Amino acid sequence: MGKVIVTGGQPLRGEVRVSGSKNGTLPLLAAALLVPGETIIENVPRIRDVMTMLEMLRALGAKWQWVGPGQLRIDASELRSTAAPYDLVRAMRGSFYVAGALLGRMREAEVPLPGGCVIGTRPVDFHLAGFRALGAHIEDEHGVMRAKASRLRGARIYLDPRYRSVGATINIMLAACLADGTTVLENASREPEVVACEEMLARCGAKIQGIGAATVVIEGVKRLHGTRVQAIPDRMEAGTFLVAGAISGGDVTVDNVRPDHMHAVVEKLQEAGFVVHHKGTALRTVGGRRPKAVDISTAPYPGFPTDLQPNFGVLAAVAEGTSVVEETIFESRFNYADELARMGANIRIVGRAAIIRGVERLYGAPVVATDIRAGSALVLAGLVAEGKTEVEGAEFLDRGYEDFVGKLRALGAQVERVEEQEAEVGACSH
Ligand code: UD1
Repeated sequence: MGKVIVTGGQPLRGEVRVSGSKNGTLPLLAAALLVPGETIIENVPRIRDVMTMLEMLRALGAKWQWVGPGQLRIDASELRSTAAPYDLVRAMRGSFYVAGALLGRMREAEVPLPGGCVIGTRPVDFHLAGFRALGAHIEDEHGVMRAKASRLRGARIYLDPRYRSVGATINIMLAACLADGTTVLENASREPEVVACEEMLARCGAKIQGIGAATVVIEGVKRLHGTRVQAIPDRMEAGTFLVAGAISGGDVTVDNVRPDHMHAVVEKLQEAGFVVHHKGTALRTVGGRRPKAVDISTAPYPGFPTDLQPNFGVLAAVAEGTSVVEETIFESRFNYADELARMGANIRIVGRAAIIRGVERLYGAPVVATDIRAGSALVLAGLVAEGKTEVEGAEFLDRGYEDFVGKLRALGAQVERVEEQEAEVGACSH
Protein backbone atom coordinates (compact mmCIF):
# COMPACT_ATOMS: atom_id res chain seq x y z
CA MET A 1 0.00 0.00 0.00
CA GLY A 2 1.16 3.54 -0.71
CA LYS A 3 1.08 6.20 1.95
CA VAL A 4 1.12 9.95 1.93
CA ILE A 5 3.07 11.42 4.82
CA VAL A 6 2.30 15.01 5.75
CA THR A 7 3.95 17.21 8.33
CA GLY A 8 1.54 19.95 9.29
CA GLY A 9 1.97 23.61 9.97
CA GLN A 10 3.13 25.01 6.63
CA PRO A 11 0.89 27.69 5.07
CA LEU A 12 0.43 26.90 1.36
CA ARG A 13 1.37 29.68 -1.00
CA GLY A 14 1.49 30.02 -4.75
CA GLU A 15 -0.37 29.08 -7.87
CA VAL A 16 -1.58 25.68 -8.99
CA ARG A 17 -2.87 24.72 -12.42
CA VAL A 18 -6.00 22.64 -12.13
CA SER A 19 -6.13 19.52 -14.33
CA GLY A 20 -8.94 18.34 -16.57
CA SER A 21 -11.89 16.91 -14.69
CA LYS A 22 -12.00 13.21 -13.84
CA ASN A 23 -15.79 13.06 -13.83
CA GLY A 24 -15.88 15.28 -16.90
CA THR A 25 -13.46 13.16 -18.93
CA LEU A 26 -14.91 9.69 -18.29
CA PRO A 27 -18.22 10.39 -20.13
CA LEU A 28 -16.30 11.90 -23.08
CA LEU A 29 -14.24 8.74 -23.38
CA ALA A 30 -17.40 6.64 -23.39
CA ALA A 31 -19.02 8.99 -25.92
CA ALA A 32 -16.05 8.47 -28.25
CA LEU A 33 -17.27 4.86 -28.59
CA LEU A 34 -20.36 6.17 -30.40
CA VAL A 35 -18.23 7.67 -33.17
CA PRO A 36 -17.17 5.42 -36.06
CA GLY A 37 -14.08 7.55 -36.58
CA GLU A 38 -11.60 9.75 -34.75
CA THR A 39 -12.16 11.94 -31.73
CA ILE A 40 -9.59 14.18 -30.12
CA ILE A 41 -9.94 15.03 -26.45
CA GLU A 42 -7.73 17.65 -24.83
CA ASN A 43 -7.01 18.59 -21.22
CA VAL A 44 -7.27 14.91 -20.21
CA PRO A 45 -5.83 14.25 -16.73
CA ARG A 46 -3.31 11.43 -16.39
CA ILE A 47 -5.01 9.70 -13.51
CA ARG A 48 -5.77 6.11 -12.75
CA ASP A 49 -9.50 6.28 -13.54
CA VAL A 50 -8.79 7.67 -17.00
CA MET A 51 -6.30 4.86 -17.61
CA THR A 52 -8.91 2.32 -16.49
CA MET A 53 -11.41 3.77 -18.97
CA LEU A 54 -8.79 3.72 -21.73
CA GLU A 55 -8.12 0.05 -20.99
CA MET A 56 -11.85 -0.48 -21.30
CA LEU A 57 -11.93 1.27 -24.69
CA ARG A 58 -9.07 -0.92 -25.88
CA ALA A 59 -10.80 -4.08 -24.65
CA LEU A 60 -13.82 -3.14 -26.76
CA GLY A 61 -11.68 -2.59 -29.86
CA ALA A 62 -11.12 1.17 -29.92
CA LYS A 63 -7.59 2.42 -30.56
CA TRP A 64 -6.13 5.43 -28.80
CA GLN A 65 -2.88 7.22 -28.31
CA TRP A 66 -1.55 10.27 -26.50
CA VAL A 67 -0.70 12.80 -29.19
CA GLY A 68 0.44 15.63 -26.93
CA PRO A 69 0.36 16.60 -23.26
CA GLY A 70 -3.14 15.75 -22.07
CA GLN A 71 -4.20 15.15 -25.67
CA LEU A 72 -5.78 11.88 -26.69
CA ARG A 73 -6.70 10.65 -30.14
CA ILE A 74 -9.32 7.91 -30.07
CA ASP A 75 -10.30 5.87 -33.06
CA ALA A 76 -13.45 3.82 -32.53
CA SER A 77 -14.00 3.06 -36.25
CA GLU A 78 -14.32 -0.61 -35.46
CA LEU A 79 -15.42 -2.17 -32.21
CA ARG A 80 -14.77 -5.85 -31.77
CA SER A 81 -16.54 -6.62 -28.52
CA THR A 82 -19.71 -5.62 -26.72
CA ALA A 83 -18.68 -7.23 -23.43
CA ALA A 84 -17.00 -5.10 -20.78
CA PRO A 85 -14.41 -6.95 -18.66
CA TYR A 86 -15.44 -7.36 -15.03
CA ASP A 87 -12.09 -6.21 -13.61
CA LEU A 88 -12.43 -2.81 -15.22
CA VAL A 89 -16.02 -2.22 -14.10
CA ARG A 90 -15.10 -3.36 -10.63
CA ALA A 91 -12.14 -0.99 -10.45
CA MET A 92 -14.24 2.00 -11.36
CA ARG A 93 -17.95 2.61 -11.38
CA GLY A 94 -17.69 5.26 -14.11
CA SER A 95 -16.84 2.48 -16.57
CA PHE A 96 -20.55 1.57 -16.54
CA TYR A 97 -20.95 4.43 -19.06
CA VAL A 98 -19.89 2.01 -21.77
CA ALA A 99 -23.30 0.33 -21.33
CA GLY A 100 -25.16 3.26 -22.91
CA ALA A 101 -22.53 3.77 -25.60
CA LEU A 102 -22.46 0.11 -26.63
CA LEU A 103 -26.21 -0.16 -26.61
CA GLY A 104 -26.50 2.94 -28.79
CA ARG A 105 -23.83 1.98 -31.28
CA MET A 106 -24.00 -1.84 -31.33
CA ARG A 107 -27.54 -2.40 -30.06
CA GLU A 108 -26.15 -4.73 -27.42
CA ALA A 109 -24.03 -4.56 -24.30
CA GLU A 110 -22.88 -6.98 -21.67
CA VAL A 111 -21.60 -5.10 -18.66
CA PRO A 112 -21.09 -6.41 -15.13
CA LEU A 113 -23.07 -4.46 -12.54
CA PRO A 114 -20.75 -2.22 -10.56
CA GLY A 115 -22.19 -3.29 -7.21
CA GLY A 116 -21.88 -1.57 -3.84
CA CYS A 117 -19.24 0.79 -2.67
CA VAL A 118 -17.91 2.31 0.53
CA ILE A 119 -19.69 5.62 0.01
CA GLY A 120 -23.10 4.02 -0.40
CA THR A 121 -25.13 1.35 -2.17
CA ARG A 122 -25.17 3.15 -5.54
CA PRO A 123 -27.58 1.12 -7.62
CA VAL A 124 -27.99 1.45 -11.42
CA ASP A 125 -31.74 0.91 -11.53
CA PHE A 126 -32.36 4.34 -13.14
CA HIS A 127 -29.90 3.51 -15.91
CA LEU A 128 -31.58 0.17 -16.60
CA ALA A 129 -35.08 1.65 -16.52
CA GLY A 130 -33.94 4.20 -19.10
CA PHE A 131 -32.51 1.52 -21.40
CA ARG A 132 -35.75 -0.45 -21.09
CA ALA A 133 -37.80 2.63 -21.94
CA LEU A 134 -35.72 2.96 -25.11
CA GLY A 135 -36.82 -0.52 -26.07
CA ALA A 136 -33.88 -2.62 -24.93
CA HIS A 137 -34.45 -6.01 -23.45
CA ILE A 138 -32.45 -6.16 -20.23
CA GLU A 139 -31.48 -9.13 -18.14
CA ASP A 140 -29.52 -8.57 -14.99
CA GLU A 141 -28.68 -12.00 -13.75
CA HIS A 142 -25.65 -13.17 -11.81
CA GLY A 143 -24.29 -9.67 -11.50
CA VAL A 144 -24.13 -8.99 -15.23
CA MET A 145 -26.38 -6.73 -17.26
CA ARG A 146 -27.16 -8.03 -20.74
CA ALA A 147 -28.91 -5.49 -22.92
CA LYS A 148 -30.14 -6.11 -26.43
CA ALA A 149 -32.33 -4.11 -28.77
CA SER A 150 -33.27 -4.99 -32.31
CA ARG A 151 -34.39 -1.40 -32.50
CA LEU A 152 -33.96 1.51 -30.08
CA ARG A 153 -36.91 3.90 -29.99
CA GLY A 154 -36.96 7.38 -28.50
CA ALA A 155 -39.09 7.63 -25.36
CA ARG A 156 -40.17 9.98 -22.61
CA ILE A 157 -38.06 9.16 -19.58
CA TYR A 158 -38.68 10.61 -16.16
CA LEU A 159 -35.74 10.45 -13.75
CA ASP A 160 -36.27 10.69 -10.00
CA PRO A 161 -36.13 14.44 -9.26
CA ARG A 162 -34.69 13.85 -5.78
CA TYR A 163 -31.49 12.49 -7.27
CA ARG A 164 -31.09 13.88 -10.79
CA SER A 165 -28.63 11.05 -11.35
CA VAL A 166 -25.45 12.03 -13.15
CA GLY A 167 -24.67 8.50 -14.30
CA ALA A 168 -28.19 7.67 -15.50
CA THR A 169 -28.48 10.97 -17.39
CA ILE A 170 -25.25 10.30 -19.26
CA ASN A 171 -25.88 6.63 -19.95
CA ILE A 172 -29.39 7.27 -21.26
CA MET A 173 -28.23 10.15 -23.45
CA LEU A 174 -25.46 8.04 -24.95
CA ALA A 175 -27.95 5.37 -25.97
CA ALA A 176 -30.63 7.84 -27.12
CA CYS A 177 -28.41 9.74 -29.58
CA LEU A 178 -28.55 6.87 -32.06
CA ALA A 179 -32.12 5.72 -31.34
CA ASP A 180 -34.97 6.14 -33.81
CA GLY A 181 -37.17 9.07 -32.89
CA THR A 182 -37.17 11.54 -30.04
CA THR A 183 -36.23 11.02 -26.42
CA VAL A 184 -37.35 13.46 -23.76
CA LEU A 185 -35.33 13.12 -20.59
CA GLU A 186 -36.91 14.81 -17.60
CA ASN A 187 -35.08 15.70 -14.39
CA ALA A 188 -31.76 15.30 -16.13
CA SER A 189 -28.65 16.12 -14.15
CA ARG A 190 -27.31 19.63 -14.77
CA GLU A 191 -23.81 19.05 -13.42
CA PRO A 192 -21.11 20.73 -15.55
CA GLU A 193 -19.68 17.28 -16.36
CA VAL A 194 -23.03 16.26 -17.88
CA VAL A 195 -23.27 19.50 -19.84
CA ALA A 196 -19.78 18.89 -21.23
CA CYS A 197 -20.91 15.49 -22.46
CA GLU A 198 -24.03 16.99 -24.03
CA GLU A 199 -21.85 19.56 -25.78
CA MET A 200 -19.51 16.91 -27.12
CA LEU A 201 -22.40 14.82 -28.43
CA ALA A 202 -23.84 17.88 -30.17
CA ARG A 203 -20.46 18.58 -31.79
CA CYS A 204 -20.45 15.00 -33.04
CA GLY A 205 -23.76 15.60 -34.81
CA ALA A 206 -26.26 14.52 -32.16
CA LYS A 207 -29.46 16.56 -32.16
CA ILE A 208 -29.81 17.74 -28.57
CA GLN A 209 -32.00 20.53 -27.30
CA GLY A 210 -31.88 21.79 -23.74
CA ILE A 211 -28.17 21.43 -23.12
CA GLY A 212 -27.66 22.21 -19.43
CA ALA A 213 -31.40 22.13 -18.76
CA ALA A 214 -33.41 19.76 -16.61
CA THR A 215 -35.37 18.60 -19.66
CA VAL A 216 -33.21 17.39 -22.52
CA VAL A 217 -34.69 16.48 -25.89
CA ILE A 218 -32.69 14.21 -28.14
CA GLU A 219 -33.71 13.46 -31.67
CA GLY A 220 -31.92 10.31 -32.74
CA VAL A 221 -29.61 10.40 -35.76
CA LYS A 222 -28.22 7.55 -37.85
CA ARG A 223 -24.57 8.28 -37.25
CA LEU A 224 -22.22 10.54 -35.32
CA HIS A 225 -18.96 11.97 -36.59
CA GLY A 226 -15.64 12.75 -34.93
CA THR A 227 -14.76 16.01 -33.22
CA ARG A 228 -12.16 17.76 -31.07
CA VAL A 229 -13.14 18.71 -27.53
CA GLN A 230 -11.59 19.79 -24.26
CA ALA A 231 -12.35 18.27 -20.91
CA ILE A 232 -13.57 20.89 -18.45
CA PRO A 233 -11.36 21.83 -15.49
CA ASP A 234 -11.76 19.71 -12.39
CA ARG A 235 -13.91 21.73 -9.98
CA MET A 236 -13.32 19.18 -7.21
CA GLU A 237 -9.56 19.51 -7.50
CA ALA A 238 -9.92 23.31 -7.56
CA GLY A 239 -12.09 23.20 -4.43
CA THR A 240 -9.58 20.95 -2.68
CA PHE A 241 -6.70 23.38 -3.24
CA LEU A 242 -8.78 26.41 -2.27
CA VAL A 243 -9.72 24.79 1.03
CA ALA A 244 -6.10 23.74 1.57
CA GLY A 245 -4.91 27.31 1.03
CA ALA A 246 -7.57 28.75 3.31
CA ILE A 247 -7.24 26.43 6.28
CA SER A 248 -3.44 26.35 6.21
CA GLY A 249 -3.41 30.12 6.60
CA GLY A 250 -1.80 30.54 3.19
CA ASP A 251 -2.55 32.24 -0.11
CA VAL A 252 -3.40 29.92 -2.98
CA THR A 253 -4.45 30.72 -6.52
CA VAL A 254 -6.01 27.97 -8.61
CA ASP A 255 -5.79 28.59 -12.33
CA ASN A 256 -7.45 26.96 -15.35
CA VAL A 257 -10.78 26.82 -13.52
CA ARG A 258 -14.30 27.67 -14.61
CA PRO A 259 -15.32 30.11 -11.85
CA ASP A 260 -18.93 29.79 -13.03
CA HIS A 261 -18.80 26.13 -11.92
CA MET A 262 -17.58 27.09 -8.46
CA HIS A 263 -20.32 29.32 -7.05
CA ALA A 264 -21.51 26.99 -4.28
CA VAL A 265 -17.95 26.36 -3.12
CA VAL A 266 -16.89 30.00 -3.25
CA GLU A 267 -19.99 30.99 -1.30
CA LYS A 268 -19.16 28.56 1.50
CA LEU A 269 -15.54 29.75 1.64
CA GLN A 270 -16.83 33.31 1.97
CA GLU A 271 -19.27 32.25 4.65
CA ALA A 272 -16.31 30.72 6.49
CA GLY A 273 -14.77 34.20 6.49
CA PHE A 274 -12.32 33.95 3.57
CA VAL A 275 -11.98 36.47 0.79
CA VAL A 276 -12.04 34.82 -2.63
CA HIS A 277 -10.65 36.84 -5.53
CA HIS A 278 -11.71 36.06 -9.07
CA LYS A 279 -9.73 37.04 -12.15
CA GLY A 280 -10.39 35.39 -15.51
CA THR A 281 -9.85 31.66 -15.10
CA ALA A 282 -8.25 32.02 -11.67
CA LEU A 283 -9.60 32.00 -8.13
CA ARG A 284 -7.53 32.92 -5.09
CA THR A 285 -8.20 32.46 -1.39
CA VAL A 286 -6.22 34.19 1.27
CA GLY A 287 -6.13 32.50 4.67
CA GLY A 288 -4.63 33.85 7.83
CA ARG A 289 -7.57 33.60 10.17
CA ARG A 290 -9.39 30.68 11.69
CA PRO A 291 -12.41 29.67 9.60
CA LYS A 292 -15.89 30.37 10.95
CA ALA A 293 -18.28 27.44 11.25
CA VAL A 294 -20.40 26.77 8.14
CA ASP A 295 -23.51 24.68 7.66
CA ILE A 296 -23.53 22.64 4.47
CA SER A 297 -26.09 20.46 2.77
CA THR A 298 -24.99 18.57 -0.33
CA ALA A 299 -27.27 18.74 -3.36
CA PRO A 300 -27.25 18.17 -7.11
CA TYR A 301 -25.69 21.03 -9.11
CA PRO A 302 -25.89 23.98 -8.71
CA GLY A 303 -26.00 22.92 -5.05
CA PHE A 304 -22.99 22.09 -2.94
CA PRO A 305 -21.15 19.06 -4.40
CA THR A 306 -21.04 15.88 -2.34
CA ASP A 307 -17.50 15.28 -3.61
CA LEU A 308 -16.26 18.31 -1.67
CA GLN A 309 -18.20 17.53 1.49
CA PRO A 310 -15.23 15.71 3.14
CA ASN A 311 -12.84 18.62 2.38
CA PHE A 312 -15.25 21.08 3.98
CA GLY A 313 -15.69 18.64 6.86
CA VAL A 314 -12.00 19.26 7.59
CA LEU A 315 -12.52 23.02 7.37
CA ALA A 316 -15.39 22.68 9.85
CA ALA A 317 -13.22 20.53 12.12
CA VAL A 318 -10.82 23.43 12.71
CA ALA A 319 -13.42 26.24 12.53
CA GLU A 320 -14.58 28.51 15.29
CA GLY A 321 -18.01 27.24 16.34
CA THR A 322 -20.20 24.29 15.43
CA SER A 323 -21.07 23.31 11.85
CA VAL A 324 -23.80 20.98 10.66
CA VAL A 325 -22.82 19.13 7.48
CA GLU A 326 -25.67 17.23 5.87
CA GLU A 327 -25.04 14.57 3.23
CA THR A 328 -28.09 14.01 1.07
CA ILE A 329 -26.57 12.07 -1.87
CA PHE A 330 -24.45 9.19 -0.56
CA GLU A 331 -25.36 7.70 2.80
CA SER A 332 -21.88 6.50 3.75
CA ARG A 333 -19.89 9.55 2.88
CA PHE A 334 -18.83 10.25 6.43
CA ASN A 335 -16.41 7.39 6.65
CA TYR A 336 -13.55 9.88 6.90
CA ALA A 337 -15.09 11.19 10.15
CA ASP A 338 -13.77 8.45 12.42
CA GLU A 339 -10.29 8.95 11.01
CA LEU A 340 -10.55 12.69 11.52
CA ALA A 341 -11.69 12.09 15.09
CA ARG A 342 -8.47 10.13 15.62
CA MET A 343 -6.66 13.36 14.78
CA GLY A 344 -8.59 15.20 17.50
CA ALA A 345 -11.66 16.40 15.60
CA ASN A 346 -14.94 16.58 17.47
CA ILE A 347 -17.51 14.99 15.15
CA ARG A 348 -20.79 13.33 15.90
CA ILE A 349 -22.80 11.65 13.16
CA VAL A 350 -26.56 11.88 13.56
CA GLY A 351 -28.37 10.18 10.69
CA ARG A 352 -27.35 11.94 7.50
CA ALA A 353 -25.64 14.83 9.27
CA ALA A 354 -22.30 15.39 10.92
CA ILE A 355 -22.23 17.80 13.82
CA ILE A 356 -18.74 19.18 13.88
CA ARG A 357 -17.58 21.25 16.82
CA GLY A 358 -14.46 23.03 15.67
CA VAL A 359 -11.27 22.50 17.65
CA GLU A 360 -8.24 24.78 17.80
CA ARG A 361 -5.83 22.07 16.81
CA LEU A 362 -5.69 18.69 15.11
CA TYR A 363 -2.87 16.26 15.84
CA GLY A 364 -1.03 14.08 13.34
CA ALA A 365 -1.92 10.39 13.41
CA PRO A 366 -1.88 7.33 11.16
CA VAL A 367 -5.19 7.31 9.26
CA VAL A 368 -6.75 5.29 6.44
CA ALA A 369 -8.42 6.66 3.31
CA THR A 370 -11.30 4.60 1.98
CA ASP A 371 -12.17 6.56 -1.15
CA ILE A 372 -10.81 9.38 -3.29
CA ARG A 373 -12.37 12.31 -1.49
CA ALA A 374 -11.81 10.89 2.00
CA GLY A 375 -8.17 10.62 0.93
CA SER A 376 -7.78 14.26 -0.03
CA ALA A 377 -9.67 15.36 3.09
CA LEU A 378 -7.29 13.45 5.35
CA VAL A 379 -4.26 14.94 3.59
CA LEU A 380 -5.76 18.40 4.12
CA ALA A 381 -6.26 17.58 7.79
CA GLY A 382 -2.59 16.56 7.93
CA LEU A 383 -1.57 19.94 6.49
CA VAL A 384 -3.07 21.79 9.45
CA ALA A 385 -2.34 19.21 12.15
CA GLU A 386 0.49 19.39 14.61
CA GLY A 387 3.09 16.76 13.80
CA LYS A 388 3.04 13.98 11.28
CA THR A 389 0.03 12.35 9.61
CA GLU A 390 0.35 9.14 7.62
CA VAL A 391 -2.52 8.62 5.19
CA GLU A 392 -2.78 5.04 4.05
CA GLY A 393 -4.55 4.32 0.76
CA ALA A 394 -2.67 6.75 -1.47
CA GLU A 395 -3.91 4.75 -4.49
CA PHE A 396 -7.28 6.42 -4.08
CA LEU A 397 -5.65 9.80 -4.63
CA ASP A 398 -4.01 8.47 -7.83
CA ARG A 399 -7.44 7.58 -9.12
CA GLY A 400 -8.77 11.11 -9.03
CA TYR A 401 -6.01 13.69 -8.55
CA GLU A 402 -3.22 14.31 -11.04
CA ASP A 403 0.09 14.59 -9.17
CA PHE A 404 -1.58 15.61 -5.91
CA VAL A 405 1.56 15.33 -3.82
CA GLY A 406 3.70 17.15 -6.41
CA LYS A 407 1.23 20.03 -6.61
CA LEU A 408 1.03 20.34 -2.82
CA ARG A 409 4.82 20.35 -2.55
CA ALA A 410 5.05 23.10 -5.14
CA LEU A 411 2.81 25.17 -2.83
CA GLY A 412 5.21 24.57 0.04
CA ALA A 413 3.57 21.63 1.82
CA GLN A 414 5.78 19.15 3.61
CA VAL A 415 4.37 16.04 2.07
CA GLU A 416 5.75 12.90 0.49
CA ARG A 417 4.56 9.72 -1.09
CA VAL A 418 5.92 6.44 0.21
CA GLU A 419 5.40 3.16 -1.59
CA GLU A 420 4.98 -0.02 0.34
CA GLN A 421 4.03 -3.38 -1.16
CA GLU A 422 1.93 -3.78 -4.28
CA ALA A 423 -1.42 -2.31 -3.40
CA GLU A 424 -4.83 -3.45 -4.46
CA VAL A 425 -7.17 -0.53 -5.13
CA GLY A 426 -10.62 -0.95 -3.63
CA ALA A 427 -13.63 -1.73 -5.74
CA CYS A 428 -15.33 1.54 -5.02
CA SER A 429 -15.47 4.40 -7.36
CA HIS A 430 -17.10 7.73 -7.79
C1 UD1 B 1 -21.35 10.81 -10.02
C2 UD1 B 1 -19.90 11.14 -9.78
C3 UD1 B 1 -19.61 11.23 -8.29
C4 UD1 B 1 -20.54 12.23 -7.64
C5 UD1 B 1 -22.00 11.88 -7.97
C6 UD1 B 1 -22.99 12.91 -7.46
C7 UD1 B 1 -18.71 10.19 -11.68
C8 UD1 B 1 -17.84 9.11 -12.20
N1 UD1 B 1 -19.07 10.10 -10.39
O1 UD1 B 1 -21.61 9.51 -9.49
O2 UD1 B 1 -18.27 11.66 -8.11
O3 UD1 B 1 -20.37 12.18 -6.24
O4 UD1 B 1 -22.16 11.80 -9.40
O5 UD1 B 1 -22.68 14.17 -7.95
O6 UD1 B 1 -19.04 11.14 -12.35
N2 UD1 B 1 -29.06 6.44 -7.74
C9 UD1 B 1 -30.01 5.44 -7.70
N3 UD1 B 1 -30.20 4.66 -8.80
C10 UD1 B 1 -29.47 4.84 -9.94
C11 UD1 B 1 -28.51 5.85 -9.99
C12 UD1 B 1 -28.32 6.65 -8.85
O7 UD1 B 1 -30.69 5.27 -6.68
O8 UD1 B 1 -29.68 4.09 -10.91
C13 UD1 B 1 -28.84 7.29 -6.54
C14 UD1 B 1 -27.44 7.07 -5.94
O9 UD1 B 1 -27.41 5.99 -5.06
C15 UD1 B 1 -27.20 8.40 -5.26
C16 UD1 B 1 -27.90 9.39 -6.17
O10 UD1 B 1 -28.83 8.64 -6.96
O11 UD1 B 1 -27.83 8.41 -4.00
C17 UD1 B 1 -27.00 10.18 -7.10
O12 UD1 B 1 -26.17 9.28 -7.82
P1 UD1 B 1 -25.56 9.63 -9.24
O13 UD1 B 1 -25.82 11.07 -9.54
O14 UD1 B 1 -26.03 8.63 -10.22
O15 UD1 B 1 -24.01 9.45 -8.98
P2 UD1 B 1 -22.95 8.73 -9.89
O16 UD1 B 1 -23.24 9.00 -11.33
O17 UD1 B 1 -22.78 7.33 -9.43
